[in-house]
Amino acid sequence: MCGIMGYVGAEPKGRGIVLDGLKALEYRGYDSAGVAVLNGDCIWTAKRAGKIDQLIASVPDDAPDGRTALGHTRWATHGPPTDENAHPHADCTGDFVVIHNGIIENFHLLKTSLMDQGHTFRSQTDTEVLAHRVEAFYDGDLKAAVLKALEGVDGAYAIAVLSKRHPNEIVVAKTASPLVIGLGEGANYLASGVPALLPHTKEMVFLDDGEMATIYPDHVDVVDLDGNGVDKLSQTINWDAVTVQKQGYRHFMLKEIHEQPQAVADTLRGHADLESYDVHMDEVGLDPERLTEVRQITLIACGTAYHACWTAKYLWQRWLDLPINVELASEFRYSAPYLERDSLVVAVSQSGETADTLAGVSLAREHGVPVLGLTNSPGSALERAAEWTMYTHAGPEIGVASTKCFMVQLEALALIGLFIGKARGTVSGDDIEASLNQLAATPGALERLLKRESEIESLAQHFYDVSHFLYLGRDLLCPIAYEGALKLKEISYIHAEGYAAGEMKHGPIALIDEHMPVVVLATKNSVYEKLFSNIEEVKARKGIVIAVSDTRDAEIERVADHLIELPVSEPIVTPMLFTVPMQLLAYHMAVLRGTDVDQPRNLAKSVTVE
Ligand code: M6R
Repeated sequence: MCGIMGYVGAEPKGRGIVLDGLKALEYRGYDSAGVAVLNGDCIWTAKRAGKIDQLIASVPDDAPDGRTALGHTRWATHGPPTDENAHPHADCTGDFVVIHNGIIENFHLLKTSLMDQGHTFRSQTDTEVLAHRVEAFYDGDLKAAVLKALEGVDGAYAIAVLSKRHPNEIVVAKTASPLVIGLGEGANYLASGVPALLPHTKEMVFLDDGEMATIYPDHVDVVDLDGNGVDKLSQTINWDAVTVQKQGYRHFMLKEIHEQPQAVADTLRGHADLESYDVHMDEVGLDPERLTEVRQITLIACGTAYHACWTAKYLWQRWLDLPINVELASEFRYSAPYLERDSLVVAVSQSGETADTLAGVSLAREHGVPVLGLTNSPGSALERAAEWTMYTHAGPEIGVASTKCFMVQLEALALIGLFIGKARGTVSGDDIEASLNQLAATPGALERLLKRESEIESLAQHFYDVSHFLYLGRDLLCPIAYEGALKLKEISYIHAEGYAAGEMKHGPIALIDEHMPVVVLATKNSVYEKLFSNIEEVKARKGIVIAVSDTRDAEIERVADHLIELPVSEPIVTPMLFTVPMQLLAYHMAVLRGTDVDQPRNLAKSVTVE
């Protein structure tokens, strides 16, 4: 979704800083971009539909620079992606410019009333009403005008306002959309995501909903929307600026796939002690006593994170004496779910900003249900909304297709399951020791798999021009089949379906003919024979079988047109290993089809609106 970047500093170098920041936010997904620089008593702006590089190319070398600047990447909601609809938007006088992430739901009403007062609009966006409202309420104090302008505004927003009448300040406010302030030396910054700030500072202040800040070069004042002062503590974010660069990889996605062994090792180190063989949640604050009172667990998430939750269900059902539900957050929030105080909701979100997941969390909390959040993003809204927060330690994920964060979600959910099982006495110390040993060996196993990338690349060469793909799995490889299909469709634009293999004969079998590639995920478990029957069914209809299997025997060699052999593993690790070929297959197919792998069309990294 939209990206915001801003600079207020002593040096007149805002334009470059803001444009670089926008590049770092490209991963959020966007279709137009713009920049505004305050130079003397003039606000210079440039806006373009399309990629940031087009915006940069349109900026002449001698374009004005300044000590105060704002930039924005827009993901169109109200009005198509045109130069005119790109942010920043100005009021009638041109004295105030606004950038905005989110949706102003009652903008029609506000716009009509402003037009009745004589305001002229230049764009079709909801955002422009904010600029005109700031102008209408301005009476010498920018912060007061923004406060007034936001009264009566319904919806989600993170906004930043710059005015030529207040050359050394930017006023920002937020509710429901992310906004982080970076504290620098002789300059302060604002952005909608941490990666844009890392080249400048690691000291960050995360605004909460209903807060507003005035950012000056040497300090920041925070107030609530009633104008009362708020004391905010800054957080040090220990992410390295180089992790938001490609470091020689062709795409962020490929780099992030290769970072998985490290991410898994770091996440394990953060939550388990391999000497005492214990899972620890000290940093999370999760009290084992509370877990003994729980009577039901519901996991909620969207997209790839949902697949991680679904995989966890299979493990947790084996380990815990509780009903475990998994819900898509977008369905959960409107489905009148069972929410009693003796239940626990576990909300999983890489970004910690997904609107539907956050709405599910709010619903649970309104009913007095405790929520454990699992996220990769420190300072995110999920951290503030949940009672407890556990972090995965994958570092920033820039590719829109989630890879390393999925991998560590699988791992972290397994750790949470073990922790709950230990607290409830349903998982023994020996089982925890064995599980932690298996997780400790996983980075090495992943490394070895990644070394076989060329095998998957050859497979991709075989199939990259097909139009459809089917992915089948059973038990804890069923969600991995869905994840494989999701990865393929989002980055290669090939239509792909994930399916529970046992369901195939209830419908999708009609799709199978000699042109249909079917990826079958096979592990030698209690349903292996059943899965094998499903493979035979595909074969009997001349489907092309791509078997990904940890078993290589005469039977699988007979039915598989292509075979990717994986090492034998325990169930806690199996989904993690099977994920790697799914990711690499999608990646190489997309590269061969020439799509925009890191920023696939129509997609945003964080879906901050419903
Ligand atoms: O940030 P979140 O984990 O909450 O995001 C949820 C989904 O939007 C996300 O997983 C999406 O499906 C990815 N593009 C998948 O690669």
